[in-house]
Amino acid sequence: MKLIRVENYEEMSSYAARLVEQQILDNSHSVLGLATGSTPLGLYGELIQGVRERNITYRDIQTISLDEYCGLSSDHPNSYRYFMNDKLFRQIDIPLENTHIPDGTAVSVEAECERYEALIDEIGPPDLQILGLGTNGHIGFNEPGTPETSVTHCVKLEESTRTSNARFFKDLDSVPTHAITMGIQSILKSEEILVLASGKKKAPAVKRLLAGTVSEDFPASYLWQHNRVTLIVDKEAYSLAMAEKE
Ligand code: F6R
Repeated sequence: MKLIRVENYEEMSSYAARLVEQQILDNSHSVLGLATGSTPLGLYGELIQGVRERNITYRDIQTISLDEYCGLSSDHPNSYRYFMNDKLFRQIDIPLENTHIPDGTAVSVEAECERYEALIDEIGPPDLQILGLGTNGHIGFNEPGTPETSVTHCVKLEESTRTSNARFFKDLDSVPTHAITMGIQSILKSEEILVLASGKKKAPAVKRLLAGTVSEDFPASYLWQHNRVTLIVDKEAYSLAMAEKE
């Protein structure tokens, strides 16, 4: 795992944007794996700027998103489809049909998971997968205890995850209890993985990830089994790992 230490959130976002744009310049038909949440917002802002100011085009890019809440439709403001359309897709020149997200309203969740995993194999795997880091070590919505062999599946969200995501909802009760997520194997299929972590809240998770022990209790640790992972951390997110070294 390659570690890149930067000063703050802005530097993390622009460093990540440079890597994403380089991927697109190298291959205009790239497949990008995308995460939702607060962490990649700055990166997405930079990518939007790249279209406006640096002639980057997403015309032939495909995207595969990691996850979606069960029960929320694409026009629900808290669905990940809505978030991605709003924060990125509608602000760049990507055709919406090139953007893929699990359907949280599918009648059969099981069939939707199978369809999505087949899609990853058909158009993917991602050339570059962007990941945020859950405070409990989740990646996608793969909570502690998720087996290494998992592919796209439905998960019951941990209370810590629901509480952490409640900030986007009216109240905790409105946060869905289940989600569809790419599994650990689906994520590890990617050619290259970029993990972003910023802020004090992520410091314990970054410290545990960098300890390097692979364990089901901490799903991000499975990333040690992939040989092209870059972790970009800012000062606060790295603070506890740093204290350990001193
Ligand atoms: C989002 C996702 C999650 C988040 C993680 C961190 O698609 O899969 O794993 O990346 O929960 O969330 P933020 O960035 O909001 O701290």
